[in-house]
Amino acid sequence: MTYLVTGATGTVGRHVVAALLEGGHPVRALTRDPEAAEFPAGIEVVRGDLTDPETLAGALDGVTGLHLITFAGPYFAPLETGPRILEQARAAGVRRITVLHGGGPTPLEDAVRAGDVPWTVVMPVEFMANALEWADSVRTADEVREPFTGRLSAMVHEADIGAVIAVALTEDGHGGREYVVTGPEALTVAEKTEAIADARGRAVRLVELTEEEALARWRAAGMPEETVAFLLEVYRDTPAVGRTVVDTVREVTGRPARRFAEWAKEHADAFRA
Ligand SMILES: NC(=O)c1ccc[n+]([C@@H]2O[C@H](COP(=O)([O-])OP(=O)(O)OC[C@H]3O[C@@H](n4cnc5c(N)ncnc54)[C@H](OP(=O)(O)O)[C@@H]3O)[C@@H](O)[C@H]2O)c1
Repeated sequence: MTYLVTGATGTVGRHVVAALLEGGHPVRALTRDPEAAEFPAGIEVVRGDLTDPETLAGALDGVTGLHLITFAGPYFAPLETGPRILEQARAAGVRRITVLHGGGPTPLEDAVRAGDVPWTVVMPVEFMANALEWADSVRTADEVREPFTGRLSAMVHEADIGAVIAVALTEDGHGGREYVVTGPEALTVAEKTEAIADARGRAVRLVELTEEEALARWRAAGMPEETVAFLLEVYRDTPAVGRTVVDTVREVTGRPARRFAEWAKEHADAFRA
């Protein structure tokens, strides 16, 4: 009996692994490249590729709880192999599934919801880790360069997403639930910039980019037009769900959600020259 975590090397997955370990549960971590992956001691690492479900056969052996990502590729293309992955999970005897929601319907999430293995869909708002995109310009120019700096975000600490998933995967009472997961406050870009400045012990200037400058930057980074359009839409007019604080972290884990100031302190070195 063990828990299989997909996306285990990722921003959220590594915290799912950590939270399961902290709870004393046996963990198996899936990655396409076990040699390159770094995991804490005490977990089993298995090779597998979700775009090729046949590679998952051994990984699913003896698995009670399965945490699933629903995407592949650098810009999170929805996994088309979802129904086959779910079939394999059922055949292996998986008894609980958690899904990291990718922002829209996907064949894998659809298959999980339609299936008879108890599931929990975890829907985080913006990750605090997105602020690491500012690390280079803060380190090299003491600047954050962003468009729409007044926008509010209830961004959530990745460790809190991991903690919610670990509880839903290991405890009864979460089947058929959808959990929106946020941090404890909605902050503007200016407030987040301040928190980073405090954490690193050095001032940071906030430079407001025009919409055109933002578009040019995203395109220069190679983002597909679909992603550029999505970002523009949520930056210009953040949906209420992205800026409204909910108490899921406390309700599910019994602990308060971590503040952005805590995240900034933990990551202060990434913002220091
Ligand atoms: N950033 C945000 O603010 C935000 C907010 C809400 C929701 N989301 C959603 O969260 C998801 C991204 O999560 P994340 O940031 O934790 O991911 P991430 O850090 O980009 O990591 C990607 C993970 O996916 C795994 N992976 C990719 N393709 C794979 C494949 N074919 N087979 C097996 N594993 C594969 C990688 O594993 P290996 O490379 O080790 O194989 C890695 O562990 C997206 O669906 C996104 O839409 C993001």
